[in-house]
Amino acid sequence: MNIERGAIPRLDRSGAPGRYLRNAWYVAGWADDLGEEPVARIFLEEPVALFRDEAGVAHAIGGRCPHRFAPLGHGKVIDGQLECPYHGLRFDGVGKCVFNPHEKGVVPRVGVPAYPLVELHNLLWIWMGEVSAADPALIPDFGWLADPKWEPVRGATIAEGHYELYSDNILDISHSNFVHPALKADAWTIGKRSFRTDGDTVWTEYDHLDDYLSDGINAILGTAGKKQDFWCGIRWNAPAVLLLDYRAADPGTPREDMTILPSLHAFTPETKDTTHYIWAVARDFALGNQEFNAAMKGALEHAFEHEDMPVIRDAHRLMGGQEFWSLKPIVLTGDSGGVRARRVLERLISAEEELMRAAAE
Ligand code: FES
Ligand SMILES: [Fe+2]
Repeated sequence: MNIERGAIPRLDRSGAPGRYLRNAWYVAGWADDLGEEPVARIFLEEPVALFRDEAGVAHAIGGRCPHRFAPLGHGKVIDGQLECPYHGLRFDGVGKCVFNPHEKGVVPRVGVPAYPLVELHNLLWIWMGEVSAADPALIPDFGWLADPKWEPVRGATIAEGHYELYSDNILDISHSNFVHPALKADAWTIGKRSFRTDGDTVWTEYDHLDDYLSDGINAILGTAGKKQDFWCGIRWNAPAVLLLDYRAADPGTPREDMTILPSLHAFTPETKDTTHYIWAVARDFALGNQEFNAAMKGALEHAFEHEDMPVIRDAHRLMGGQEFWSLKPIVLTGDSGGVRARRVLERLISAEEELMRAAAE
């Protein structure tokens, strides 16, 4: 995340809330962006405060103080507890009010929710559902993000638009040829595409042999003017956490020996209309080369934040809050990954809603 104490986004609770999968791990931000200063965030329309205690352990608790509703994430940590920035009540890592600086210091018997939070792969993963179901083994593997063999460039921003539009975008890279001049390549449009669903995981694959890569990728791989074999696998895990495994090499090279540019694209809903976009692209060459890092980061940031995001923002605005399928979208070949992901997510959310209805009866 961009760890800034910016204004809290407007939360309009007067209409129907969005539909979200609650029992799932969402990326809350980069672990090393969370330092001594707490952070205020909105995830799934719920205010959350992220902070580290004295031992450096990261916690996520409800972000709206139960007194006069100030953002706890704008407070400060004192003796490992989070102090509200408004009148100084303090809360511990499980959200319990533990200190009252006023009058005789009677501590109100109140608290805020606590959310399971796991630090893994240099990311903070938050669970917004049933606490007892929060199994860290369910976190998809992004081990390369914390492996010194790989050097990632990365970013985190707030993107306007529904989070499913953002996962559709990664599952269908054919948009590159129209949205990203530097990433244009025949592989995305005329290359072989295949799609599969494996349990709750969806894959899109691209396969294209003996052809030129895009200018942008040539600049990273040093392959300008050289034909390459190319393969790309995109893995989607609910609700919207994607791995993009980009590979290229001289024709005839086995896939496992190709040069790999793995990337993370994690989309965590902030509201129905806004999404936390956390991304990283890594390489296993030119390690420690800061000039290379700056050029690679600049190019990717431009592609993701200044080319993808405006199109998706405007598409979202043109949808005007209407449900995706109700608009009867045309389905092209490349949409199969996105459609599969939407189906899996719908099945998981409906199952959760059914369980909640049954529990309420
Ligand atoms: S609003 Fe938090 S202590 Fe008053
Ligand atoms: Fe894109």
